[in-house]
Amino acid sequence: MDSKKRFDLSNRVAVITGGAGLLGKEHASIIAEAGGIPILADVKEEEAKKKAQEISKKFKVPALGVSADITNKTKVEQLLKKLIKKFQRVDILINNAANDPKVDRKNQHSNWSRLENFSLEMWEKDLAVGLTGPFICSQVFGTYMAKQGSGVILNISSDLGLIGPDQRLYEIEGRAPEEQPVKPVTYPVVKTGLIGLTRYLATYWASCGVRINALCPGGVDAGQPQEFKERLYSKIPMGRMANKEEYHGAVLFMVSDESSYMNGAILAIDGGRTCW
Ligand SMILES: NC(=O)c1ccc[n+]([C@@H]2O[C@H](COP(=O)([O-])OP(=O)(O)OC[C@H]3O[C@@H](n4cnc5c(N)ncnc54)[C@H](O)[C@@H]3O)[C@@H](O)[C@H]2O)c1
Repeated sequence: MDSKKRFDLSNRVAVITGGAGLLGKEHASIIAEAGGIPILADVKEEEAKKKAQEISKKFKVPALGVSADITNKTKVEQLLKKLIKKFQRVDILINNAANDPKVDRKNQHSNWSRLENFSLEMWEKDLAVGLTGPFICSQVFGTYMAKQGSGVILNISSDLGLIGPDQRLYEIEGRAPEEQPVKPVTYPVVKTGLIGLTRYLATYWASCGVRINALCPGGVDAGQPQEFKERLYSKIPMGRMANKEEYHGAVLFMVSDESSYMNGAILAIDGGRTCW
């Protein structure tokens, strides 16, 4: 088969959790461009529908925006049933949804994120979306794909699945150490956990035609304060953040037949940040 055909996703149904978010729409767009049918699944139903319509119009594929809370197994099972009824198949799952609360550097009392103060409630919420959700979606859609005899799961981890956060990036001059904001503990925990889930599933379903891999993106330039960006640039060999379109190629490769021998791989695309 020529390589153009191996990148072709015609008629493949791809569920993208957190599809209404910044990167979810990008994953959906490249899938649609390759002829696939992206399902943007998100708690923000209206936003998911709006983005699906834009994609549908642009790429002339039947993209769908659907309401989905990935922490609720019954709802995820209902989504699978709905998709089977409509399309008779599901081929791709991108576990993309996660909480990533922005570090609040303006608020004088932004020390809620510090480990000593971090609430159990917040820990449970972040783990529910970032880890339990991918477990439930993999269990529901992955089991279906294993029975179907083919499928791909792509887990969206992060550079912070590979390295610890450098809290100096978030420091505010003149503020007492116990008042300094930090990246919450849950983010790297969830992102590292996804790498474990990837390895587990990659061995579990290897004989059923289902491949599972993880992508570890570096930070996307999305209007962060310039001062923060400059600190971050100094930690990235390429000296910049990613543009949101710079993961298209990797996502397409990882969900298409072009990566047919790739299973259990952890791919960092981070401008070299994890080399330092
Ligand atoms: N943006 C970055 O710089 C960056 C860098 C590295 C990794 N990532 C990872 O990429 C993924 C997407 O990031 P993003 O920047 O697009 O995030 P985002 O916050 O823009 O989007 C996340 C989406 O998940 C949805 N969501 C939250 N809880 C949900 C639930 N229970 N069920 C279904 N959907 C739910 C939200 O409504 C939101 O639309 C995340 O896993 C993130 O950790 C992002």
